[in-house]
Amino acid sequence: MPDLNAYLNDPEAIDALDDLYNPQRLDRQARRGRRPRGMSKSRRTRRQRAAAKVAALAAAESEFATTYTPSRYEEGWLLESLLPFYEMGLLTDVLAVIKGGKEASVYRCQGHSDSGLGLVAAKVYRPRMFRNLRRDHVYRQGRDILTPEGRPVGLKGDRIAHAIQKKTAFGQKAAHTSWLMHEYTTLQTLHAAGAAVPEPYGAAANAILMGYVGDEDTPAPTLHEVTLEPDEVKPLFDEVLRHIDLMLGCGIIHGDLSAYNILYWAGEITLIDFPQVVDPRRNRDAYAILGRDITRVCEYFAGYGLRSDPAAILERLWRRDIGQTPAERDADEARLHWEPDEEEA
Ligand SMILES: Nc1ncnc2c1ncn2[C@@H]1O[C@H](COP(=O)(O)OP(=O)(O)OP(=O)(O)O)[C@@H](O)[C@H]1O
Ligand SMILES: [Mg+2]
Repeated sequence: MPDLNAYLNDPEAIDALDDLYNPQRLDRQARRGRRPRGMSKSRRTRRQRAAAKVAALAAAESEFATTYTPSRYEEGWLLESLLPFYEMGLLTDVLAVIKGGKEASVYRCQGHSDSGLGLVAAKVYRPRMFRNLRRDHVYRQGRDILTPEGRPVGLKGDRIAHAIQKKTAFGQKAAHTSWLMHEYTTLQTLHAAGAAVPEPYGAAANAILMGYVGDEDTPAPTLHEVTLEPDEVKPLFDEVLRHIDLMLGCGIIHGDLSAYNILYWAGEITLIDFPQVVDPRRNRDAYAILGRDITRVCEYFAGYGLRSDPAAILERLWRRDIGQTPAERDADEARLHWEPDEEEA
């Protein structure tokens, strides 16, 4: 993966990363072919490099034939996005689309036999998905910007944050990478902590590769799509709460938890879809965001007649994993700033 920090001072590096993250543009450039009049020498060299890269991609893509036949619209994007995994020897084939969504499409793929992977799931993000997120600043708040390696941008963070805020071309790429890497690194953290999440196998500029839940014919449905047996309801509710607790213990709030983002297979749940995670200690709205996650879960199980008190659960879990609730903290701060007036003194 390229080094995002290299973006900052080096225009050549910006172009190189642009090339890597924006193959469609390369394609157009390559088709356009000749260099426009007045273009500088260094620019010409870059274009030539770009054309060479397109040729290499085309060659690799031609070997990367898939069982699944993508629509013309998705073909270039899909193969381009998954090519790094193919080249890393992680997958050999795309077998079927599991779900084509507004924001991302997920595919069932054949893992490479050498890598010991069986079926794997590839989540491929729509070209502009992270630009359209509603209220994205709520989730970005208090969160590191992550590089393509999944590390916080560190000292250069302010400049990148500024670019993201200004929505420059670079800022949009940096934001895209950061959302994707938040999803990937969260899977890593939670998987290592023993949570029921897909095992993460790889991240590329526009896709992540992870464990597949389901069998050869049928992907796991979401909780929203199944009807639970009466005796499963309470144990599964407890299991979801155990996971919310476990995530909090890891400094993670899902942020979009609901029956749509919990898979159900052979009586077990798997939590998915993590790009919007927030840090309970650093996001000012964390308490409310966690409250919404818990409420949605409680509402789903209430559909099976299970009664619960989301506010009480929220307070209990927060106090156990994080400490003071925001209300208690505010009360404490008010007390600190309280000065007795003369009569009371
Ligand atoms: N590891 C997996 N194994 C099997 N199916 C999966 C896996 N990950 C995701 N899916 C399927 O893909 C769907 C979409 O995945 P996810 O929720 O991560 O993306 P999304 O961003 O919500 O996409 P959209 O908003 O477009 O639905 C899930 O509802 C589920 O059906
Ligand atoms: Mg989802």
